[in-house]
Amino acid sequence: MANVVVVGAQWGDEGKGKIVDWLSERADVICRFQGGHNAGHTLVIDGKVYKLHALPSGVVRGGKLSVIGNGVVLDPWHLMKEIATIREQGVEITPETLMIAENTPLILPIHGELDRAREEAASKGTKIGTTGRGIGPAYEDKVGRRSVRVADLADAATLEARVDRALQHHDPLRKGLGFEPVDRDALLAQLNEIADHILPFAAPVWKVMNEKRKAGKRILFEGAQGALLDIDFGTYPFVTSSNVIAGQAATGVGLGPGAIDYVLGIVKAYTTRVGEGPFPTELEDADGQRLGERGHEFGTTTGRKRRCGWFDACLVRQTCATSGVNGISLTKLDVLDGFETLKICVGYDLDGKRLDYLPIAAEEQARCVPIYEEMPGWSQSTEGARSWADLPAEAIKYVRRVEELIECPVALLSTSPEREDTILVTDPFAD
Ligand code: GDP
Ligand code: IMO
Ligand code: MG
Repeated sequence: MANVVVVGAQWGDEGKGKIVDWLSERADVICRFQGGHNAGHTLVIDGKVYKLHALPSGVVRGGKLSVIGNGVVLDPWHLMKEIATIREQGVEITPETLMIAENTPLILPIHGELDRAREEAASKGTKIGTTGRGIGPAYEDKVGRRSVRVADLADAATLEARVDRALQHHDPLRKGLGFEPVDRDALLAQLNEIADHILPFAAPVWKVMNEKRKAGKRILFEGAQGALLDIDFGTYPFVTSSNVIAGQAATGVGLGPGAIDYVLGIVKAYTTRVGEGPFPTELEDADGQRLGERGHEFGTTTGRKRRCGWFDACLVRQTCATSGVNGISLTKLDVLDGFETLKICVGYDLDGKRLDYLPIAAEEQARCVPIYEEMPGWSQSTEGARSWADLPAEAIKYVRRVEELIECPVALLSTSPEREDTILVTDPFAD
């Protein structure tokens, strides 16, 4: 009996969706605890592809409870569209299988508009490269104590009061940007219309989760983004607007910190980043292009080309520490097939000084020059390997070196997008 948190240990898109889906067979409850539909999690099951953004990846397996926790920011119109798409793929989603925390803040159309307007107005160097989904402005309203939350949809008078409070802030802000004031009545009508679709899923998630825990149910916490996009420990200001690291998992659904038994970090065998910001091991040469092509590195949410680079052991050692990672799942090892030589970053040179961690200031991060260690590659295919015996000796050596450098063992190894192309070393759910 154990509860497992899955977190991204780089800049997102490490393959969390695939691993959460794989692990969800062993879990009773699968919950999202932060972020929103900026996430894009891809599952491939017997050749059929599912792309999930706001829904937990556990929805695809029958008989599980999926939960959207209070740490999430929720766009209710997007959610209903996503539910419709996933239902069309033959997945059943009902209030018995999906629960949304009543205290989840909503992403309103004005948040997306503000997010995109700021990005368009930003100059080079200040642009974040957000997903344009309104995530930042929605979290700003949450900490500014002016969110409209799921529970507010249940009562027309409360909803009006909450909308008025939000607009007191947004209308002057919009004026400054040259936007019209919000059409209050139209927004209220939109919210009243969506309320009927959302409210059947609303529940006191903190209570349900505590009851599940007492009943000995296994909980799988599905992280979104990656530790380097964390608002505190990421490459600030080029980050998302929430805590994404493992410590957030309990707070994001209403459980105590003791509920977390095991933290699984998801780690890509190389590095990618989508959006702006420092990236010490980025490759702008043929190797980078090859990683992008072999790894199909295009964003699941925005379709943007992901920046690619060598594996950065320095960064992953750091993110394993800030999330208290017990074991990692190393993904996309197959993408490295056929490289003659592989490089791993083991430290940085900053203005002539050697560092074994990434400094906190963005300006210093941008000046960090990676110090590499080289390893021989392998020519055989590892794609679809399902046991260690299927891996060439050089690939095993690469995995072992990664473990040593990040000071964390490999619990799972992934060798293709397919659910079953996964090698189990240590079961995170084992007692
Ligand atoms: P997430 O956001 O962390 O869930 O990751 P994404 O779904 O955005 O991106 C990961 C991509 O890599 C998806 O297209 C997955 O299907 C794919 N993927 C996951 N694991 C592997 C793997 O081991 N090998 C290969 N080649 N692709 C993988
Ligand atoms: P998953 O869960 C990769 C990045 C954006 C941008 C920054 C801020 O699929 O790994 P935001 O819209 O959150 O304000 O954008 O964060 N970003 C992601 N990058 N994977 C994600 O999610 C991401 N979610 C946000 O590209 O750089
Ligand atoms: Mg993704």
